[in-house]
Amino acid sequence: MNNNMEPPVTASLETSLGPMALEHPIINASGTFDALVADAVLAADLFEQFPFAAYVPKTVTLQPRAGNEPHRLYETAAGLLNSIGLANKGIENFIAEDLPRLAELPVPVIASVAGENTADYGRCCEMLDSRDEVTAVELNISCPNVELDGKALGCDPVRTEKATALARAATSKYLVVKLTPNVTDIVELAKAAEAGGADCISLINTVHGMALDPWTLKPALGHTTGGLSGPAVKPIALRAVYIVSRALDLPVIGMGGVTTAQDVLEFLAAGASAVAVGTASFRDPLLATRLAGELRDLMEIRGISSIAELVGSA
Ligand SMILES: Cc1cc2nc3c(=O)[nH]c(=O)nc-3n(C[C@H](O)[C@H](O)[C@H](O)COP(=O)(O)O)c2cc1C
Repeated sequence: MNNNMEPPVTASLETSLGPMALEHPIINASGTFDALVADAVLAADLFEQFPFAAYVPKTVTLQPRAGNEPHRLYETAAGLLNSIGLANKGIENFIAEDLPRLAELPVPVIASVAGENTADYGRCCEMLDSRDEVTAVELNISCPNVELDGKALGCDPVRTEKATALARAATSKYLVVKLTPNVTDIVELAKAAEAGGADCISLINTVHGMALDPWTLKPALGHTTGGLSGPAVKPIALRAVYIVSRALDLPVIGMGGVTTAQDVLEFLAAGASAVAVGTASFRDPLLATRLAGELRDLMEIRGISSIAELVGSA
């Protein structure tokens, strides 16, 4: 490279979520990248060259869940609809079978938990509190709640604060609350999580949607409706990150449709301190291995030397 082409700065990608130092801002979105399966089928050195700066496993619940009827996935014009129904092995099996292996990852593990009622959140956090393999806990409050007639707990500020407070009382781990975009006022829900003792807000989970089979004109998903993710939801997610990060004094993890390093740059500028890749990993499971380097290039081209300089600059 000649002198005229020399980037004006060397960019550092280091960022942090509270006490959790991250080598770069790119993490994975829960439920979209199974590190244990990927290790077996993708690359022998995946754990050594782990593409994400922190790892968020799929959400687990107190009891194992079989999940929803098939079909559970349906690709739409600009995004993916899913109705997995939180199929998972249950927190006890997760602790016994997955955590020992996940402890070998060179990055912090952010366990994700969900409950059928507010009390479950406290119970799950209590079970994880003594586990050294887990650095942080993310509360997924977007799942149907029995106390709310199947509506997501994350739609109700009172229950959001209560579930967060129960989790807060049960663990001293770094506490992330993941919000659903399917609400009228997402800032109100973020403030409820903050009042309950959250250390960090992550957003967004999937957006309510449905698709019809083009031939039968019946619902394409076994569960009839599902959650939309991928490029279609990026503008919704960017707005949520922008308004929540300005309204609260907590760090934000942004996600929703992130597919390129430019997307990462935009989420950081909107106010996220870390950015998660979800649906894009299905099309290109090794996408994340390239994103950090591409982000550094984009920052250097623009003369941005640190993530802190970028966060919230929009
Ligand atoms: C197949 C699938 C499974 C998901 N499972 C979970 C989950 O278990 N827990 C959770 O908090 N979010 C889950 N999500 C939501 C993602 O973590 C993420 O919030 C959302 O998909 C938006 O990001 P994206 O557009 O990059 O996928 C899931 C998304 C998909 C597509």
